[in-house]
Amino acid sequence: MINDGKSSDIILRILKPEDVSEQYLAWNKDEDIVRYSDNQYRNFTLDGQKDYVKACLYNRDIDLYGIFSGNTHIGNITISGIESIHKRGEITYVIGDKNYWNKGIASFAVSNMIMKAKSYRLHKLFAGLAHQNIGSKVVLEKNGFILEGVRRSHLYYNNTFYDQLDYGLLLA
Ligand SMILES: CC(C)(COP(=O)(O)OP(=O)(O)OC[C@H]1O[C@@H](n2cnc3c(N)ncnc32)[C@H](O)[C@@H]1OP(=O)(O)O)[C@@H](O)C(=O)NCCC(=O)NCCS
Repeated sequence: MINDGKSSDIILRILKPEDVSEQYLAWNKDEDIVRYSDNQYRNFTLDGQKDYVKACLYNRDIDLYGIFSGNTHIGNITISGIESIHKRGEITYVIGDKNYWNKGIASFAVSNMIMKAKSYRLHKLFAGLAHQNIGSKVVLEKNGFILEGVRRSHLYYNNTFYDQLDYGLLLA
């Protein structure tokens, strides 16, 4: 399961309501984490987030995985659109604990999602990101995603408009 030899204790497992902690909520209050994310506009509460995680458990269209280093919850990765008639799924990911950035963990998690998407017989994975989000770009490109297009001034974060890069990976 490991793709870089650096993330050997990293596991992905479906997130459960009991995994939702104050630390997890704090990710969404950290400017570095939400700089290029719609989460900067949302208010998160423990109960609200537990409800969301629970709803994902019963939603066949989305898988929400927690990324764990040992027992420590350090990030999330989702694949949605599993039931899509177009057989395409969207992935989103966050490494919420910045101590774990630049260790190959998001790249590893995305490579795992590619395997899962293949097992779901999806034809394509896609992801969109702000063009300044270099780390996220690197993660996708290391996993073979191709830049399919640029949506100009598509995102509004931190009082600034950003271009959105649309990446895709054909699985078949
Ligand atoms: C983007 C994010 C997921 C990356 O996670 P990560 O585990 O640090 O990613 P990885 O270590 O697998 O890969 C990051 C790569 O980007 C590179 N990188 C990061 N910032 C960079 C920069 N400013 N310039 C050049 N390269 C950069 C790293 O060196 C690394 O490449 P390498 O493995 O070849 O050395 C993480 O920073 C994060 O969660 N950010 C906040 C949420 C977010 O932006 N999510 C994505 C929304 S689209």
